[in-house]
Amino acid sequence: MKLRTIREIDPGGKKVLFRADLNVPLSEGKVADDSRIRAVLPTLRWLLERGARVAVCSHLGRPEGKVVEELRLKPVAERLSKLLGKPVPCLSDCIGPEVRKAVEALKDGEILMLENVRFHPGEEENDPKFAKALAEPFDIFVNDAFATAHRAHASTVGVTNYLPAYAGFLMEREVEVLSGLLSHPRRPFYVLVGGKKAKDKLGVLTGLLPHVDGFLIGGGVAFTFLAAQGLKVGKSVVDEKLIPTIQGLMDQIQKSGKELHLPVDVVVAPELKEGVEIKVISVQAIPEGWMGLDIGPATVGRFAEVIQRAGTVVWTGPMGAFEVPPFGKGTEAIARALISSKAFTVVGGGETGEAVEKLGLTEKFGYVSTGGGATLSFLQGEPMPALEPLRAD
Ligand code: 3PG
Repeated sequence: MKLRTIREIDPGGKKVLFRADLNVPLSEGKVADDSRIRAVLPTLRWLLERGARVAVCSHLGRPEGKVVEELRLKPVAERLSKLLGKPVPCLSDCIGPEVRKAVEALKDGEILMLENVRFHPGEEENDPKFAKALAEPFDIFVNDAFATAHRAHASTVGVTNYLPAYAGFLMEREVEVLSGLLSHPRRPFYVLVGGKKAKDKLGVLTGLLPHVDGFLIGGGVAFTFLAAQGLKVGKSVVDEKLIPTIQGLMDQIQKSGKELHLPVDVVVAPELKEGVEIKVISVQAIPEGWMGLDIGPATVGRFAEVIQRAGTVVWTGPMGAFEVPPFGKGTEAIARALISSKAFTVVGGGETGEAVEKLGLTEKFGYVSTGGGATLSFLQGEPMPALEPLRAD
């Protein structure tokens, strides 16, 4: 897929509506992880250095068409301002006379931030009236919001009916890296899947089966696989309804001669809480009333062996409940195995990106995608509506 990018234009003096995905985690009113903000800096700097007049637009959280005070973009604008080293005033809306006035007043190389687009119901409904109002003050639209490219919303799709649209550098790079994985991965190509819910990852496993040489499955997802093999998994999270589908998938994996690696041992506890009693136990012997919350050391060893001989590994989903200290060891050990391997390592999925960032290892991976759901949708070949208006071919 080739995208029309900002390299084709001279943005000097142009009023640019810049869509970013600045849906970042906040803690006590402050940005807790600014990776998504840093990821759009190259595009923003390029535009500003060339004299563009930029209005940044994003969603934050899911306010469902209403103003939610805690989901205002002010803290994000403040962090962006620090990173850019210039003022980024934040408006109190994203459409209307205040916006028009502020955009008109921008000088070459100046930037401002519009308020959360999801405060308007028209955003998620992709309402043409709202899209037109959003586009109205601007000359061009630049989309760098790969993490929202799976959503057909007014600020990702609707505005392209009113403005010439171009991809930013982040959008271009995400599409390039992820398409490359599907068309010419370095082999053997493994997908390492974790996270809480099997349901969220089933599409990725099915969609990627034709492309990969094998799967490694940890995290909460693994317990539905283990249960599908007939093992007793105690209180571990299992999606019973998915068991027949997973049995079908395991058959398909086996018939196609691909590898499937599941945990052989796990860390269990009576509940997910810091300071509780924990045991490392074989998956054959999970006690009644205990739940699996991380992969065990033997599993780490086996997974690390596979990673050492991999050409490419895509990782989505932590190996355990990494946010609660005793259950983060599997995720950290696997992250370290990945960065010390020769494989091209790609991290996809918001939570995995957060885990890697928390460990301070982001820079050591081959590529860390900013997308959560979007990355998974792209890899499983689902439609990506926001990319369509940006296509060069
Ligand atoms: C994400 O964080 O994955 C994106 O910002 C999309 O958010 P959404 O799932 O609320 O549309």
